[in-house]
Amino acid sequence: MVAGEEFGLVEETEGVDGDEWEQLDVSDTEADRIARRQDREFSEFRKRLKNTEQFKVTGGVFDDATFAALYKLVQDGYIEAIGGPISTGKEADVFEALAPEDETVAIKVYRINASDFRQMRDYLEGDPRFENIRGDKKRVVLAWVKKEYGNLLRAKKAGVRVPDPIAVQRNVLVMEYLGDETRAAPTLDDADLGNPETAYEVVREYIRRLYDAGLVHGDLSEYNLVVDDGELVVIDVGQAVTVHHPNSEEFLRRDCRNVANFFAREGVDADGDDLYDYVVSEADPREGEGVA
Ligand SMILES: Nc1ncnc2c1ncn2[C@@H]1O[C@H](COP(=O)(O)OP(=O)(O)OP(=O)(O)O)[C@@H](O)[C@H]1O
Ligand SMILES: [Mg+2]
Repeated sequence: MVAGEEFGLVEETEGVDGDEWEQLDVSDTEADRIARRQDREFSEFRKRLKNTEQFKVTGGVFDDATFAALYKLVQDGYIEAIGGPISTGKEADVFEALAPEDETVAIKVYRINASDFRQMRDYLEGDPRFENIRGDKKRVVLAWVKKEYGNLLRAKKAGVRVPDPIAVQRNVLVMEYLGDETRAAPTLDDADLGNPETAYEVVREYIRRLYDAGLVHGDLSEYNLVVDDGELVVIDVGQAVTVHHPNSEEFLRRDCRNVANFFAREGVDADGDDLYDYVVSEADPREGEGVA
């Protein structure tokens, strides 16, 4: 773990809340300004991070502005040190981090340059907030990260268990860590399912609650559900769309199919079309206030 303690709380950060998301502010962040300024303390911070064993593994993947975002999160008191990687993906890497009072949190660090827009495109089409920034990678990613934060809040409010969102800074999302001291919580495909029938019912209820709140996950499967201490948790909600999105029905059908197919392989009497029909008939998304 990197020591980051000397970067004490310097100034208050405004928390990001669900409503702010609707405005989709993608102007330069504090982290961009720090990166440009390159003051001595920031340079020291970056050097130290780069020199630690943990970071040699993922070495050099962070650009200045990402280091600056982490630095800002340290300054703002959200994290004290960065730990080992939990997952390395195409769009983002997830790390453990140490928060004040010895708490562990998870940070999801999105790549800006390496990020592949093709996967994002389907979800961005038809979302008016992305219309004017579609060609600008950095802005799309920054908006995406805020969207993920907002969606976590929405899902939580709808009664769906998700990692608690904690903060966003530029391309970094800080959230509740799922897992224990020895390892991060396994995804559903890797977990020992004592009772798949009950697990299926829980996931079914999660999809219904999300839909009722006007949201469709859009990438739901055994890989974006984790089992934390016996509890099912929905993760990776950056791409979730509202029911008004032109592809929301198709996404919901696909989510239902993925989930039902997984549980059918586990021996549960589950079927994607039945699940879809259940969700649609049992929820009233027009009452919801989804803002994905
Ligand atoms: N809050 C968390 N606590 C612990 N582990 C997490 C948390 N969030 C994500 N992970 C782990 O990191 C992995 C990747 O996270 P996530 O699905 O959000 O990112 P992704 O962009 O889809 O990456 P990938 O392409 O690898 O799926 C998850 O499968 C899970 O194992
Ligand atoms: Mg994922």
